[in-house]
Amino acid sequence: MTNAELIAALPKAELHLHIEGTLEPEMLFDLGERNRVELPYPDVEAVRRAYVFEDLQSFLDIYYAGCRVLLTEQDFYDLTMAYLRRAAEDHVVHSEIFFDPQTHTERGVPYETVLGGITAALADGERDLGVSSRLILCFLRDLSAESAMETLDTALQNGGITAVGLDSAEVGHPPEKFLAVFDRARAEGLRTVAHAGEEGPPEYMWQALDRLHVDRIDHGVRCTEDEQLVARLIEEQVPLTVCPLSNVKLRVFDSLEQHNLAEMLRRGVRVTINSDDPAYFGAYVGENYAACADGLSLTAVELMELARNSIRASYLEASTQQTHLEQIDALGQQANL
Ligand code: HPA
Ligand code: ZN
Repeated sequence: MTNAELIAALPKAELHLHIEGTLEPEMLFDLGERNRVELPYPDVEAVRRAYVFEDLQSFLDIYYAGCRVLLTEQDFYDLTMAYLRRAAEDHVVHSEIFFDPQTHTERGVPYETVLGGITAALADGERDLGVSSRLILCFLRDLSAESAMETLDTALQNGGITAVGLDSAEVGHPPEKFLAVFDRARAEGLRTVAHAGEEGPPEYMWQALDRLHVDRIDHGVRCTEDEQLVARLIEEQVPLTVCPLSNVKLRVFDSLEQHNLAEMLRRGVRVTINSDDPAYFGAYVGENYAACADGLSLTAVELMELARNSIRASYLEASTQQTHLEQIDALGQQANL
C-alpha cells in the first residue's frame, strides 16, 4: 500500500476547521449573486490570485470580507454541506467544526440563523454521508471579553454546541483576557479549546492550559521554543490540532520541510493534522496528510499514529472512538504494519 492509498483509506477526525474558511471562490460568487453582495473581484481566478498572505492578519482581512456573502440560514446550510461532502471524500469520519458567530451577528445576521443553517447540515451530513460532528463556538479574541460573554449567553439559550474556543488575531489578546468567559462556559457544562502558539508566544499556551483549562490547543506549534512546555504537553498528552499547510501559507514556517510537526510527533506530543481554512489555503485534510508524508518523510506507521491521535483527541464517546481505532488497526494489519 502506498502512503497515498493509506492516507485515503485511514478513518480520520478533523478537529481544527473553521466553517467560514471552507467558502470556496465559486460559492463566494454564487452567494454574492444570490444575496446581491458586491465583491471586489472580477472573477474566480482573481479571487484565487488574491489568496496570498503575509501573516495571520492579512489572511483574516480577506476571510472576514468573504463572510459578507453569508446572510441566510440556507447560505450556512450550503456552506456546511459542501464542506461535509468534501470531507467525506477524504474519509473524514468525524469533524469538530468551529464557527465565528460574532463575525455574523456584528453584521446583523441573527445567531439563530447561523446556528440553524449549520446544525441542519450537520444532521444531514451524519445521516447521508456518515460524517459525525460536533460544533465549537469560537470567540473573536480581538473583540472584548464583554462581547464574548454576551455571545456565550446567546449560545447557552440556543444549545447545540459542545465546546467554546478562541480564534482571530492572537498577538496582544492573551487567553487570560477570557478567564471569566471560559469559567462560565465550563460551569455550564461546555468543553474548552483555544488557538494558542500560532503567532503568539508559548506563554499563551501556558495560560490556555493553566487558566482556561482547555482540553486541546489549536496550532500550538511555538511550543518547541519552551522545553518545559513540551515536557508538560507530553506528560499530560495534551492534543495539538496542527494545520501544517496553513502554517506555511501564513508564514509561521518558511516551508513545509521546516515544519516541526514530525519533531513533535517523534518526541511523543499528541499532534493531529487538520486543514484550518481549506478554501483559503488550497488544501483539505487529506492534502495536508499527503504534503506532510512527502515534505517531512512521515512513515506509514506515523501516518496511522496521526489518524489515531485525531480520533483519541476528539469529543466522540469512548465506544465510538474504539470502533474507529479498531478500523485503523485492521488497516494496519492489512498493510503489514
Ligand atoms: N487562526 C486564528 N484565527 C482564525 C484562523 C487561524 O488559523 N482561521 C480562522 N480564524
Ligand atoms: Zn484556526
